[in-house]
Amino acid sequence: MIIVIDFGSQFNQLIARRVRENDVYCQIEPNNISVNKIKDLNPQGIILSGGPSSIYEENSPRIDKSLFDLGIPILGICYGMHYMVNILGGKIKKATKREYGFANLDIKDPEPLFKDMGTGFQCWMSHGDSAVELPENFGVTASTENTAIAAIANHTKRFYGLQFHPEVEHSINGSLMIRHFIFDVCHCQKNWTMKSFCDGAISQIKESVGDKKIIMGLSGGVDSSVAATLIHKAIGKNLFCIFVDNGLLRKNEKEALEKNLMSNLDLNIKFVDKKDKFLTALKNVTDPEQKRKIIGNLFIDVFEAEANKIDGAQFLGQGTLYPDIIESKSAFGGPTSIIKSHHNVGGLPEKMKLKLIEPLQLLFKDEVRKLGTELGINDDLIWRQPFPGPGLAIRIMGAITSARLNVLREADVILLEEIRKAGLYRKLWQSFAVLLPIKSVGVMGDKRTFANCIAIRAVTSNDAMTADWAKLPHDLLGLISNRIINEVENINRVVFDITSKPPGTIEWE
Ligand code: XMP
Repeated sequence: MIIVIDFGSQFNQLIARRVRENDVYCQIEPNNISVNKIKDLNPQGIILSGGPSSIYEENSPRIDKSLFDLGIPILGICYGMHYMVNILGGKIKKATKREYGFANLDIKDPEPLFKDMGTGFQCWMSHGDSAVELPENFGVTASTENTAIAAIANHTKRFYGLQFHPEVEHSINGSLMIRHFIFDVCHCQKNWTMKSFCDGAISQIKESVGDKKIIMGLSGGVDSSVAATLIHKAIGKNLFCIFVDNGLLRKNEKEALEKNLMSNLDLNIKFVDKKDKFLTALKNVTDPEQKRKIIGNLFIDVFEAEANKIDGAQFLGQGTLYPDIIESKSAFGGPTSIIKSHHNVGGLPEKMKLKLIEPLQLLFKDEVRKLGTELGINDDLIWRQPFPGPGLAIRIMGAITSARLNVLREADVILLEEIRKAGLYRKLWQSFAVLLPIKSVGVMGDKRTFANCIAIRAVTSNDAMTADWAKLPHDLLGLISNRIINEVENINRVVFDITSKPPGTIEWE
């Protein structure tokens, strides 16, 4: 295993992914982890991440110096390199100007990280401070025009430092450098595969749950479906799933779940119809945050009431993923934990006094998909685009009524059908229809119309933290527009959303 010490870099997850892409397990730990705990984890290598701080700042993240006495290879990236240089007796100079963007790296000592990379290549810099004096027994292994000490090594101790970011996609040879570190320096084995993960997770669930019961909410999405399938493999009929129809689902959602998940799996699922309850609570509510709160609280109430009917359940299963854990301050203590606290983490379990079982909490989304395939789940489910918990409520601007929900459902089905036919469904992070709260004038069959407007939203993204609007072909947009206007009652205009995230969000509310 490789450990990434979190010094607050926005790229931490990327570093972990780059390692895991090589079938080597990698875990992110906060910088306040004790050196004893690191010893227990027994990693073959440690990567000190970058971070936004300057090492001479009073509250800059630190880690115990004895980390450097463990005899474990260490790679420091940007702030991680500064930290290593400073703590081992070198000097860092505070920058007067930030260096940001591409730089040409001139390699002076290719072994081991720059092996087979020629004399230089382009790397991606984003730093203020720089190393100006190296600790004893360190040498410079690469420079750029602006940064004399761009990479360093202490070959005896197997300590390496990179001023630039090998983990980001635009750093040429970045992945190869990480491979050299994990295999040539740390001598890791390629043994992190979905098969091994799956076997390990199943025996772990068996061991912690024994013959007790687990309840879990199913949404029809990838994460909860894969988690439920995995748990089912471990404890079979002692898993009790609850699917709440809140009236805000897309067309045929329940049927899709039955077809995709239950056709080859003997799952216990209770379908609970609470459409009226949700729609009554949402009547005349137009404020997005209020909508979200009402839906979230009601979901907890309904789920809790249903769960209480299942006798003797002691565990709650959830499809929480690794990024959710990293982003959730309560679950993780590192300096990166600032972004948002995720819907899956918190809320339900505390109130219900159930122990959590989160078998996917070490996985990234693409790994969950691989695991789903390993578990034999069908492709249609595995490649489903994400659908938000508050459902269509946050895609109807203004008040929600059954009639408006139906209009949106019909438009959404057409849009998704055409996106699939065009072979774009899997290439897009999400594609969906939004119902706008305005009416506009049109002319259909020689008659004046005054009807509603649908917006098409389609984005590409890797993780939903940022997204780009998808450049859908004009013909396809035309086809979708035509079909929606002709086939959906009360729609006479279709527009295309060309906003990226940021500044927009993916959902409209
Ligand atoms: P935004 O709209 O914030 O969405 O750019 C980012 C991603 O998160 C999904 N999303 C949600 N998922 N509960 C969820 O389970 C929610 O309340 C929620 N809000 C947004 C959204 O679909 C996108 O993939």
